[in-house]
Amino acid sequence: MRRIALVQQKGGAAKTTLCVHLAVAAQQSGIRTAIIDIDPQASASGVWGLARGDLAPPVAAVLAAELRDALEAAEAEGFKLIFIDTPPHTAPALEVVARNIDVAVVPVQPSILDVAATQATLDLLRANSVPAIAVLTRTSPRTDEEILETERALKALGLPLLNTRVVERKVYRRALTQGQAVGEFDPTSKAAKEIRALWKEILAFDKNRTSVSDLTNVSSSKRRA
Ligand SMILES: Nc1ncnc2c1ncn2[C@@H]1O[C@H](COP(=O)(O)OP(=O)(O)O)[C@@H](O)[C@H]1O
Ligand SMILES: [Mg+2]
Repeated sequence: MRRIALVQQKGGAAKTTLCVHLAVAAQQSGIRTAIIDIDPQASASGVWGLARGDLAPPVAAVLAAELRDALEAAEAEGFKLIFIDTPPHTAPALEVVARNIDVAVVPVQPSILDVAATQATLDLLRANSVPAIAVLTRTSPRTDEEILETERALKALGLPLLNTRVVERKVYRRALTQGQAVGEFDPTSKAAKEIRALWKEILAFDKNRTSVSDLTNVSSSKRRA
């Protein structure tokens, strides 16, 4: 079972938005996925999960101290992929996360303040040898000076950056309110395409560590046959 966390100590960077969107994208690609929400604000579990109801992927609210047990339980239940949504400003919780994940996805808004907040997160991930990748979020549709400046600053930190940018679009908020992801709310939207591209890139980043066929039930049952 692969474990991917959305981490960024700065609030409002789109951790929760990307967590639920990537989990739905993974589920739609045939991977048995669940979300673990360790943010006490419970945006993913309380707000989105409640609106969503029983539709997969399931979302569980878990205390950071119980993350390890929750991951073991999820693996025993047969989940192949877990996305973890994390709270801002809580180093002790992040320490637990860093010890229990395979990959960290770090959403960064195009602003130098957000890059500055990324440094502490990155130090913690590196101390625990967690591979990390940044994604620019809530950007303008076109490349502007802020984006270029942020890209340069991330490069200086030595944090690799995904090519796909998540543009600021109203449809992300509208889908979330309905307990959906943009791929469900409006499958042909630019946002839905963006999320599919992002998920593909994250899988490719992780490809040396695992393969999609290890994660999909179809292929594993084929292998057993
Ligand atoms: N690409 C986007 N387009 C429009 N609104 C977004 C986008 N990403 C996030 N938001 C909005 O920005 C706010 C913060 O996002 P959220 O995912 O809650 O961040 P975090 O979990 O990092 O605090 C929310 O209101 C969310 O709906
Ligand atoms: Mg959040």
